[in-house]
Amino acid sequence: MTDREGLQYVQYHSSKESTYLAAIRQLISNDLSEPYSIYVYRYFLYQWGDLCFLALDEHDNMLGVVISKLEPHRGGPMRGYIAMLAVKKEHRGKGIATKLVRMAIDVMIERDADEIALETEVTNTAAMKLYERLGFLRSKRLHRYYLNGNSAFRFVLFVKENAFTSRLGYDENDGDEDQPELPPSA
Ligand SMILES: CC(C)(COP(=O)(O)OP(=O)(O)OC[C@H]1O[C@@H](n2cnc3c(N)ncnc32)[C@H](O)[C@@H]1OP(=O)(O)O)[C@@H](O)C(=O)NCCC(=O)NCCS
Repeated sequence: MTDREGLQYVQYHSSKESTYLAAIRQLISNDLSEPYSIYVYRYFLYQWGDLCFLALDEHDNMLGVVISKLEPHRGGPMRGYIAMLAVKKEHRGKGIATKLVRMAIDVMIERDADEIALETEVTNTAAMKLYERLGFLRSKRLHRYYLNGNSAFRFVLFVKENAFTSRLGYDENDGDEDQPELPPSA
């Protein structure tokens, strides 16, 4: 898909690893506080490559990326999870992240997601604004969630009509809900 500004939005596929993985890591490591190893990227991309979307300019430079996953959450609802999102500094504020996240959400919905979750640092105004505009609700504050000691908000988008009420009781009793959704090697 190409937009009015000539940007292409591309769904990742494992056949594109040699073309895109290095650029994905570079873009994300510039902006996110967590230092993820190559195994973390492969954990997501091998299993849920179709939930990763890239924004590329006309020369194939990578301007934005979203990486996510979708799986049953503790034997309960089908939960999508937005793991990483970044847009190159010079290209922010043009709706690139919004479009990438929408594309990931659309595939999750097609694949029968009940809810979609993510965490963001409590100081990340741009990310919080973006997710709230897409309908995500703040579900809880996670104290000192990140390795750098910063706290996070968890955001959840309830995709199905009855998901919100049926999940309320579940969350309250959900003992280790605050664990990061990354593999232990992260
Ligand atoms: C968060 C991020 C992905 C947003 O990318 P983007 O392409 O600029 O986002 P969009 O243009 O789609 O829109 C984001 C919304 O946030 C707003 N916004 C952008 N920068 C902002 C800022 N510094 N303060 C407040 N709002 C801001 C935009 O105005 C827009 O809202 P609006 O359309 O209602 O005006 C980008 O800032 C980024 O890469 N940050 C570093 C990595 C990061 O924090 N990732 C998120 C981790 S959860």
